[in-house]
Amino acid sequence: MSEQPGSLDAEARRDALAERLFGSMLSSFDLAAVYLGDRLGLYRALVDARTSTSAELATRTGLVERYVREWLEHGAVTGFLEADATGDPLHRRYSLPAGHEAVLLDEISLAYSTPFVRMVTTSIRLLPEIMRAFTEGGGVPWSDYGPDLREGQAAGNRPQFHHLLGTEWLPAIPDLHARLSADPPARVADLACGEGWSTIAIARAYPKARVEGIDLDDPAIAQARRNLAATDVADRVAFHARDASEPALQGAFDLVTIFEAVHDLSQPVAVLRAARQLLAPGGMMLVVDERVADEFTAPGDDVERLMYGFSLLVCLTNALAESPSVGTGTVMRPETMRRYALDAGFREVTVLPIQHPTFRFYRLDP
Ligand SMILES: C[S@@+](CC[C@H](N)C(=O)[O-])C[C@H]1O[C@@H](n2cnc3c(N)ncnc32)[C@H](O)[C@@H]1O
Repeated sequence: MSEQPGSLDAEARRDALAERLFGSMLSSFDLAAVYLGDRLGLYRALVDARTSTSAELATRTGLVERYVREWLEHGAVTGFLEADATGDPLHRRYSLPAGHEAVLLDEISLAYSTPFVRMVTTSIRLLPEIMRAFTEGGGVPWSDYGPDLREGQAAGNRPQFHHLLGTEWLPAIPDLHARLSADPPARVADLACGEGWSTIAIARAYPKARVEGIDLDDPAIAQARRNLAATDVADRVAFHARDASEPALQGAFDLVTIFEAVHDLSQPVAVLRAARQLLAPGGMMLVVDERVADEFTAPGDDVERLMYGFSLLVCLTNALAESPSVGTGTVMRPETMRRYALDAGFREVTVLPIQHPTFRFYRLDP
């Protein structure tokens, strides 16, 4: 029998896809193991002990030894942990290799990755709800994802805000930097602020500025207030639990910000319009959103793949849980952002030349 044209290509593609999904399956188990290690305190206890057997770690964490042993063995075979060469599984000692602590435990490190793992693993738990939305319409509200999503989002962005917002991003906008540093004290509104780490970072960077964080999620604002209480900027920061599109919001702000949230909004134009009305003469708005490609291209790069993944499991479903909703999704192209801003009455939209692997920076002038 003669070979069908193209059949070799199809076979090669079949094998490549099967191999790729096999790798994805390994990665999924890695994520689940990191989730367990993080949420059960296993990484923290292992670092505190420096080296540990399964029984010692089980005692330290109050967990069941047999499960802890399996988690340790998985961690060692997958390369997250180190194990000594002991053949006896009960006497084998485990440790965290140098460098891994920053990724798994250091809440301020730019390499800190467990919050994102937490977001992904928890969103997979919501698959039955997401399937219901596919068949019946509607979406899955942010609150249904529970603390894993809210806390994961806040903790994931915290190191970026802590290290970069006040030292690189805002100083890269000279007129804004000058205003935030000057008298009379500048006023800043940080919309959709989540647990408030961006709000706090702005106040830390600019000792004269007064900063207000606004989010409609009550648990996020309650946590933002707790986060603030542990800082030395509490006298210049306030948090409000309310909808950022409320026309009742009042103020004359020199800067209004929205970090990683325009694409989540059911009514982005309404929120941007309300934000524009909050600006004092000479004020500007800074929107930070995903650095997706300018246009849809398939196959896409890793940022596109990441953002479509979050969109499918989190952002689109959240936005469509409200009605009416424009249903932007995580992959908000620069042209879409520009259209929203112009529809909201902004005169000029500029993509700022600030470098970041996943964020793009938009300046909106009224
Ligand atoms: C992806 S999170 C970003 C949170 C935060 N800016 C950060 O970077 O960590 C999106 C946030 O938008 C908030 N949000 C959505 N719609 C809103 C609205 N109409 N007014 C205020 N906040 C809103 C959600 O409650 C959520 O905290």
